[in-house]
Amino acid sequence: TRIDKAGHKHFMAKEIAEQPGVIGDALQQYITAEGEINLPEKGIDFSKIDRITMVACGTAFYACLTAKYWFEQIARLPVEVDVASEFRYREPPIPERTLALFVSQSGETADTLAALRYCEGKAQTITSVINVPESSIARESDLALPIFAGVEVGVASTKAFTCQLTVLFLLVLKAAKDHGALDDAAIADHISHLRGLPAVLNTALEQNDALRDAARKLASARDVLFLGRGHMYPLALEGALKLKEISYIHAEAYASGELKHGPIALVDENVPVVVLAPRDPLFDKTVSNMQEVMARKGKVILVSDNKGLSEANEGVWSSIEMPSISDALTPILYAIPAQLLAYHTAVAKGTDVDQPRNLAKSVTVE
Ligand code: G6P
Repeated sequence: TRIDKAGHKHFMAKEIAEQPGVIGDALQQYITAEGEINLPEKGIDFSKIDRITMVACGTAFYACLTAKYWFEQIARLPVEVDVASEFRYREPPIPERTLALFVSQSGETADTLAALRYCEGKAQTITSVINVPESSIARESDLALPIFAGVEVGVASTKAFTCQLTVLFLLVLKAAKDHGALDDAAIADHISHLRGLPAVLNTALEQNDALRDAARKLASARDVLFLGRGHMYPLALEGALKLKEISYIHAEAYASGELKHGPIALVDENVPVVVLAPRDPLFDKTVSNMQEVMARKGKVILVSDNKGLSEANEGVWSSIEMPSISDALTPILYAIPAQLLAYHTAVAKGTDVDQPRNLAKSVTVE
């Protein structure tokens, strides 16, 4: 099949818009009509697993970092996450009853593949979450779980990220079930929120114009900070990565609570600060960090839901309203504004969105 932009100006815009559809496809593959989680034949028996080691690069690494919060909070399983280029050389000990889990869109990233082979050499059973089923990483895994994102052309990963998160979240639910960390009713509740996700993502996409307006203001910045707490911290990292990759604006992400230990020194009226803050149990803490930014004249773009905005909108530079969703799924939802902010900033700057300088879609050399 020929891959075209389907009426969009860039592949990235098309791939952002495709997310509700491809996530729907992934859910259909992994959840039965009866609402049961359905892994390929071999599956994973988490009752035989005490800890998880996750390894990836780039955006896939941030998917792993998000999943760490989920596995630990929801399934009560300890998780170690590392970038593949570090993991492969630091010779980490891998205790028994560890799940070695590799995440890669292309399935060809050299460092991730080398990390996988390191674990193979330690007689580990290898599981991977990949987009390309015939890729090297998929072929060398004992169990390869496809994410069903379809071909991704834009160098900056978008739909692969949210599909990775979706499949990883299903693994978290499977782990929670095998470990007895959640009862059937709680799992059914998560599944029903997941099934509602495509519709909620469509509502988020309706914020496109508001995000474009905010992005036009970002386009003249030299530095941008992204803040988030808990499982929104990896999303802040991903938002900063997207912005750097395609707009070439220096962007850094911090866990909001860490602001006072350094980055607050950078804040003045020239530094926009993107705050990713759904109205969840950590909201008040994030808002107090945001107020520290505003007290130093930092310009805040607050991304929150209706309830959050009604409580904390005062004095912000720009606000973006997201629909509401269960707390656990906010990382998947808030990927949309993170992606669209970067996209529209790059468009406003006139950079090459789909082929950013110096970057490759798949890095097959070390
Ligand atoms: C490159 C791409 C990124 C991607 C990373 C990992 O740096 O530009 O978008 O996240 O590689 O790629 P993978 O195919 O392993 O997910």
